Amino acid sequence: MGRHRNFLTVLPFAIAAVVIGIGVIASAQAPLDRNLLIADANAADEKIAPAKASQLFSPVAAVLRHPRCMNCHPRDDRPRQGDDRHPHLQNIVRGDDNLGFVNGRCTACHRDENSQHSGVPGAPTWHLAPLSMGWQGLGDAELCSTLIDKEKNGGKDIAALVEHMAKDPLVLWGWTPGGDRTPVSTPHPQFVKELTAWADAGAPCPTAAK
Ligand code: HEC
Ligand code: HEC
Repeated sequence: MGRHRNFLTVLPFAIAAVVIGIGVIASAQAPLDRNLLIADANAADEKIAPAKASQLFSPVAAVLRHPRCMNCHPRDDRPRQGDDRHPHLQNIVRGDDNLGFVNGRCTACHRDENSQHSGVPGAPTWHLAPLSMGWQGLGDAELCSTLIDKEKNGGKDIAALVEHMAKDPLVLWGWTPGGDRTPVSTPHPQFVKELTAWADAGAPCPTAAK
């Protein structure tokens, strides 16, 4: 009886020890998994100092604000042109599918590549970014929170966002815009490094200035 009782008293501790053991092993493995780290962005966000968050995001913001990107990411229905971001000539508008209204379909003029002949810039699937990805005029805090919002960015997690900016043809066009257009100032490999540094820190967003 005495023995039996001892076993029952010890049992909860034994179970707890096993559970803790599993926890320790799991948490030891967690840092190896980049995706887990990235998925944990919100937790990291709370730990990171606001100054550090601004420092990591501001080089990313500088690229997003470049006219080559911003001209396709307006917060209204007009694509923009040029470094002065004037509204697209010929009264071109977004249309229901971001591909232009009936008589001004983007692909009527924009092809898969820049045209040496007509001077019209081009890249595969040329069209306007959805309104939810409109960035014009946003401060760093709002630009960052908009960017990482899965409801707005086509359901992308941080890894997929980085991937998009590393490989998407419309993004890459910003570095080979054709004609005498100014390419994005930050070289693309450096941009990817800056993006990765921000992502690895958990994609922290700066806090809004008051
Ligand atoms: C020709 C128009 C165009 C240009 C130029 C452009 N984008 Fe976009 N962008 C889009 C469209 C359209 C989408 C929506 C996703 C899609 O259909 O590819 C988008 C979406 C995005 C997204 C969100 C991911 C998503 O799938 O919604 C990011 C981030 C982005 N663009 C970054 C950039 C950056 C950085 C540049 C400049 C280097 C840039 N874009 C230039 C049209 C453009
Ligand atoms: C009637 C022909 C035509 C149509 C339709 C058209 N574009 Fe353009 N687009 C042009 C021409 C021409 C240029 C080059 C203007 C220049 O460089 O001065 C241009 C330039 C642009 C630029 C400027 C690139 C930059 O950064 O300077 C963007 C962005 C753009 N178009 C987006 C669109 C979108 C989005 C649509 C559809 C909603 C569209 N365009 C429909 C003819 C057209």
